[in-house]
Amino acid sequence: MHNTEPVVIVDKLWSIFGEGDKAFAVHQDLDLTVFRGEMLSIVGGSGTGKTVLLRQILGLLHPGKGSVTTLGKPAAQLCGEGAAARVGMLFQHGALYSAFNVLENIGFALREQGTLPEAMVDEAAMIKLQMVGLKPEHATRMPADLSGGMVKRVALARALIMDPPLLLLDEPTAGLDPTSSDEFCALLRELHAELGLTVIMVTHDLDTLFALSSRVAVLAEKRVLVTGTPREVAQFKHPFIETFFQGERGRRAMAPVPQGGH
Ligand SMILES: Nc1ncnc2c1ncn2[C@@H]1O[C@H](COP(=O)(O)OP(=O)(O)OP(=O)(O)O)[C@@H](O)[C@H]1O
Ligand SMILES: [Mg+2]
Repeated sequence: MHNTEPVVIVDKLWSIFGEGDKAFAVHQDLDLTVFRGEMLSIVGGSGTGKTVLLRQILGLLHPGKGSVTTLGKPAAQLCGEGAAARVGMLFQHGALYSAFNVLENIGFALREQGTLPEAMVDEAAMIKLQMVGLKPEHATRMPADLSGGMVKRVALARALIMDPPLLLLDEPTAGLDPTSSDEFCALLRELHAELGLTVIMVTHDLDTLFALSSRVAVLAEKRVLVTGTPREVAQFKHPFIETFFQGERGRRAMAPVPQGGH
């Protein structure tokens, strides 16, 4: 499938924090285009501005210079009313609301919007709960009583409650054990295919990266250094890329696929 319709266009972006002589730039002239239907992974060292980039795409932060266009409009216009219908976000440290049960967490954005009766909000939330592989009996559980993998599923269902065409994931498999991580990747792959989503994901996990990405963007030196398939990017000469891909796990992830496997 080849799609050339851009969903996100980041053009010469500067992300600046602080003021006066304390000001510092996290991104300088960062360019990135994401096309419809892609599953793009963003990788980079800690503190290189991956989360900041997702927040720019979501319109929660504003460019110091340059521009961010998300779904055809300046990203800043996404915020507020109805934002959840356009972009879903799974935050890096995105805890669920601890005082609300699973179903209430999933239906949150829809309830906030205030246009549907309570029963319909619950019904919509129940559909999403099952879509992410949870069972109806999990609906009344409190967040504290869920496993790490279940928390991620609830957070995903919450992000998808209003059927947004674009999904942003910040370290979706961080903190999960290998089995839960593989299961969550399989779920993401399924939903991506079924719902025709565009997914932008930050991950430092090579297994997740190879399992899911059609394309990778490497963040280094305050910009997107290189984009390409995981294998293409791995060939690029740069200290970060060499450390990231050439370690034991990188070599294993890039080993030839056995016959009949996939
Ligand atoms: N609201 C803010 N105010 C000031 N500085 C900020 C703010 N948000 C982020 N930063 C700074 O921007 C830089 C990039 O942060 P960011 O959270 O995007 O890193 P990251 O690549 O996501 O790192 P990690 O892999 O650890 O999650 C860091 O130096 C951080 O301290
Ligand atoms: Mg981060």
